[in-house]
Amino acid sequence: MSITGQSFLRAKDVTPEDVQRIFKRATLFKNAYKNEKKMDHLIDASSLGQKVLALVFSEPSTRTRTSFQMAALRLGLRVVLLDNMAVSSMQKGETVADTLRNVAAMKPDVIAARFDEDPEAYEVVETMDIPVINAGIGMYEHPTQSLLDAFTIMENRGKLEGEKVLIVGDVLHSRVANSNLALLKKMGAEVAYCAPSEFHPKHKDWVDIPHFADRDEAVKWATVIMGLRIQRERHASVGNIGLTVASYRDRFRIGGDQLNHFRDDGILLHPGPVNRGVEFSNYVLSDSRCRILDQVTNGVFVRASLLSYILDLEVQEG
Ligand code: CP
Repeated sequence: MSITGQSFLRAKDVTPEDVQRIFKRATLFKNAYKNEKKMDHLIDASSLGQKVLALVFSEPSTRTRTSFQMAALRLGLRVVLLDNMAVSSMQKGETVADTLRNVAAMKPDVIAARFDEDPEAYEVVETMDIPVINAGIGMYEHPTQSLLDAFTIMENRGKLEGEKVLIVGDVLHSRVANSNLALLKKMGAEVAYCAPSEFHPKHKDWVDIPHFADRDEAVKWATVIMGLRIQRERHASVGNIGLTVASYRDRFRIGGDQLNHFRDDGILLHPGPVNRGVEFSNYVLSDSRCRILDQVTNGVFVRASLLSYILDLEVQEG
């Protein structure tokens, strides 16, 4: 496995074969948990030893932080959590980069890190001798989100090859969109986006990606609709983006009218947190094709699988 003992900072760090193996083991864990309410019996205790996951989150998180903890505890790993920076030495002026260097100096076996745009901190995680998992760094990437999104598509649609994934919303500021583009293309899916011009991506990876100006036409094309949160906290860094929530909603929100154009066997995804009524209407959030909470459930098992490979845990595959 190419990621054993390695960091996972970008979707391109995994091969399609790695992705298939991660999914196979995530399914094993998910089924074991469903049938036996446990999965640590599948892990060889001697390979587990006293391994420790350190979580360093200097940006808010509900799903990613908690599901890494859930995944680690279900595997039998030990977890240390540094997420309340108000009581960390960052309050005394220590940088994120130095915080990461100091946590690494305590010798955890793997670190999962989330922080805002910070080139020095990014350089630290890129050169660290302990594996680091990108748990959402700035606007760069959120590769474990793309893994769990792809797993959810596979679970519901039976394949990734040839799937038509429509990304709707604030693509420009979205690390989730960047990782999904890289991973989904690698796995043979088609990707397109629908967004106001203010949210069009500028990175070269998006240059040849089809764009829909009309949301109804976009929805007709898609087998999977992936909504993205309007990331107001990132707009300040680029100045006034000149787009109100009301005007976004009028032209780009996915509501009941749009679902009339969506195929019966399609699915709707969103990485969360959802701004209810902005990206998706409440009607859409309760539609039977909506898989947002399944994504969250899958996040635990996909992250458990990823951790098991990075830490080289011996797993009874059956
Ligand atoms: N999807 C996601 O990253 O959610 P959180 O910000 O709550 O972790």
